[in-house]
Amino acid sequence: MIKYADRLNSLPPYAFAEVDKAKHQKIKEGVDVIDLGVGDPDTPTPDYVIDSLCKAVHNPETHQYPSYSGSTEFRDAAAGWFAGRFGVKLNMEKEIITLIGSKEGIAHIPEAFVNPGDYTLCPNPGYPVYGTATTFAEGIPYAMPLLAENGFKPDLAKIPKDIVKKSKMLFINYPNNPTAAIADKKFFREAVDFGKDNGLVVVHDNAYSEVTYDGYKAPSILEVPGAMDCCIEIHSLSKTSNMTGWRIGFAVGNADIVAGLGKVKMNVDSGAFLAVQLAAIDALKGAETFKQKMSKVYQARRDALLVGLKTLGIKMEAPKATFYVWAPVPGGNSTEYAKFLIDKAGVVCTPGVSLGKYGEGYVRFSLTRPIERINEAVERMKKI
Ligand SMILES: Cc1ncc(COP(=O)(O)O)c(C=O)c1O
Repeated sequence: MIKYADRLNSLPPYAFAEVDKAKHQKIKEGVDVIDLGVGDPDTPTPDYVIDSLCKAVHNPETHQYPSYSGSTEFRDAAAGWFAGRFGVKLNMEKEIITLIGSKEGIAHIPEAFVNPGDYTLCPNPGYPVYGTATTFAEGIPYAMPLLAENGFKPDLAKIPKDIVKKSKMLFINYPNNPTAAIADKKFFREAVDFGKDNGLVVVHDNAYSEVTYDGYKAPSILEVPGAMDCCIEIHSLSKTSNMTGWRIGFAVGNADIVAGLGKVKMNVDSGAFLAVQLAAIDALKGAETFKQKMSKVYQARRDALLVGLKTLGIKMEAPKATFYVWAPVPGGNSTEYAKFLIDKAGVVCTPGVSLGKYGEGYVRFSLTRPIERINEAVERMKKI
């Protein structure tokens, strides 16, 4: 009999199982399901990025092993983009590392800093990889509640002292998945101070920095003086340039933290495909223009969904970032509500509880479907 390792057995059960089952059942029945569950851009990667890849791939030099830390050209471009966007200058050699998508960096970083039995502080609800990566490193994820009354930010002062003492890393993520909350530099200042006071590596996941609306500009934690002492920030081209399938991102920050992540990567991967790195340079060059274009698209979808939810009695503030709407559910049971929507309206959303116990009471709607489909989803929801 095949036996899995304890670390695999100790992972939480697949959280979307029930909703997934209901969705597949409906599809089998021939229902035209509108999936607002997945957070994957539905519009294509920009043409100039595709053209750049086509050109790069014809150069046989791109076919060889890339360096695990990333090409000089890509890291140069990332440093240039970062300086222009956030006003922070980075040492391209020591303070930037290329990632095979940001998930790869997040999944590997605990290996570098967490010993068996150490804690990491993880947002709850949150992107599940912070916790599972901790478990793989034989650490223990501690759930920091993201509550509406705190603007969906963790109350760092409320984390028990004995847990903080045993912690090695603090994960934060703003603009936030799933709550769509944003953070200002005051919160980042708190996180940096907390990290420094307690000897923590602060990992800021900034995957949604370029998915913003209403003129809002998301800051980098590295804009806070002293952040370079304890922080690493994760960036991704996935949402910035509609490149989820391409697998390219980068991490920036404290040279020793970047080197620690690099040491893990050196032993487990061989870097992102060079042709993808070359195309990503052009994606970064066009990022600002592309952001303007996409923000209009998502903003219109967001507004359509919010108007619809309002007619259903769900009132909420319009999120300023991410392509998610985190809506409080009538009755408070997110799984029941999500199953009800699939069953009666053929509309899929993500139950908040599947992203952590403190996500109960909410569902997440993703705006990565055309506005016509969102309007159709709203009409169907109104009927039930
Ligand atoms: C908060 C957050 N971080 C990281 C990722 C991973 O993105 P990627 O690996 O495509 O860069 C996601 C993807 O959904 C996410 O929501």
